[in-house]
Amino acid sequence: MQIEVKNLRKSYRVNGAELNVLDDISFAVNSKEFLTIIGPSGCGKSTILNILAGFVPKDGGEIRLNGKKVGNLQKIAAYMVQKDLLMPWRTVIGNTILGPEIEGQDIKKAKEEAISLLDSFGLGGFYNSYPSELSGGMRQRVALARTLMFKRPLLLLDEPFGALDAMTRFVMQNLLLRVWKKYEKTVVLVTHDIDEALILSDRIIVLSSRPARIKSTYTIEQPRPRDLSALAAIKKKIFDELKEEIGSVFGNGSI
Ligand SMILES: Nc1ncnc2c1ncn2[C@@H]1O[C@H](COP(=O)(O)OP(=O)(O)OP(=O)(O)O)[C@@H](O)[C@H]1O
Ligand SMILES: [Mg+2]
Repeated sequence: MQIEVKNLRKSYRVNGAELNVLDDISFAVNSKEFLTIIGPSGCGKSTILNILAGFVPKDGGEIRLNGKKVGNLQKIAAYMVQKDLLMPWRTVIGNTILGPEIEGQDIKKAKEEAISLLDSFGLGGFYNSYPSELSGGMRQRVALARTLMFKRPLLLLDEPFGALDAMTRFVMQNLLLRVWKKYEKTVVLVTHDIDEALILSDRIIVLSSRPARIKSTYTIEQPRPRDLSALAAIKKKIFDELKEEIGSVFGNGSI
């Protein structure tokens, strides 16, 4: 599966004015690649994922799947965001089987599959709990299980661990790596967190501030599990690039 995004453009109309958000964004995602997009807050990262997922129309440019032009990647993508968006009135298992249910699949079979997935995520015994009875990390594990149950080859992950504490985030990053390997997914992740990008990604795209352009791309060759101390030079480069962008918004040195 080869995804190509070419010359993507997007503006929103805000209070009668054009807000230019994406300015000529082009990148490719290879089959089973783990690609991360990092950039300053408000630069247009979620907009890119929303366009790919088909939630937001693009103004210009094209998306190609295996060389063929498509409107969006809705058919092949499952989406996960920072807020877990679990349905509070549904149990863990009820939330997990949402995809198969929407698609009219065999519910008994889906439940069996969900149970084995939840077990492998350390959620055995919580099948009948409600989201309000779970910790933030547990809720995100349910959200990840639900995302996987959609059985799509592409995962679009928008700061999925952004609201978690450092330790829980670490656990979730490792779980995500296991999932990515085991289920052979292609991943496009959006994050603010440079360490997260370095720990997880095959490739990192750094965006400028709004309107987002691609500022640079890094390929991380180091095998996983990664040793962040050996990636300190790349970390500094990305940090400096982001700092430059934030500076261009707030004015370097001004308060
Ligand atoms: N539906 C919308 N209507 C109008 N403006 C929007 C809409 N969605 C996003 N924007 C604006 O577009 C810009 C980019 O938003 P987007 O959510 O893509 O940024 P982001 O990089 O994901 O930010 P963050 O890191 O804070 O999540 C922001 O200025 C935002 O206010
Ligand atoms: Mg966002």
